[in-house]
Amino acid sequence: MQPTSVIGHRGACGYAPENTLASIETAARLGLLVVEFDVKLAADGTPFVIHDDTLERTTGASGSVAEATAEELAALDAGSWFDDAFAGEPIPTLGAVLDRCDALGLEAICEIKPCPGVESETGRVVARAVAERGRHSVSSFSTTTLGAALAAAPDVPRALLVVILPGRWDSVARELKCESVHVWAGSLTVAAIDSVKNTGRSLCAYTVNDPERARFLVETGVDAVFSDRPDRVLAS
Ligand code: G3P
Ligand code: MG
Repeated sequence: MQPTSVIGHRGACGYAPENTLASIETAARLGLLVVEFDVKLAADGTPFVIHDDTLERTTGASGSVAEATAEELAALDAGSWFDDAFAGEPIPTLGAVLDRCDALGLEAICEIKPCPGVESETGRVVARAVAERGRHSVSSFSTTTLGAALAAAPDVPRALLVVILPGRWDSVARELKCESVHVWAGSLTVAAIDSVKNTGRSLCAYTVNDPERARFLVETGVDAVFSDRPDRVLAS
């Protein structure tokens, strides 16, 4: 499999705690060129890289990301839950992750995952931060967020994220000027793959850890798969 066909999911979250600098570095070490991670805003509007709305699963702290200040988030340990070897690994800011991606030569797909109620603000903040870098792209399940990203930074490439391709996916993607569609791999059929590729948009599938499934999807027209264990997919 070509390195351009594999995207590190949350960095390389099969091997390092998701959405941390350690996970980004692991992805680069495995030979990847592209990584995905999730972005939310802290209470003061600082973008942080974390998947869940709440802190429990990956830090052991209680409460929500949206109600925590940047200082509070930066002080948490987002590594120990995964393995003691990563104790003290912080929840990184978006800026820190983009700096590391730039230093490592990685392209970033910043999945904008707004906490409830701040869909537009999160889209604007993340899209502007990405625009300052002159490379990288954004994606989101939230059409409100993608609309805000489009208005704030039209030149930042956008991807529409869906679990299952809805009937009107093409008009949504056109309206939001999304050049890519990211779809849950479990829902992808050959017909669905063809329907996206026939529009000229790129298509990525999440999350694929089985090398055989990854190979099938790429041979059928999927441009790239997100993987937690990208080295296994790369080797296929
Ligand atoms: O961006 C693709 C994938 O990351 C979407 O699902 O829940 O892992 O963010 P999730
Ligand atoms: Mg994600």
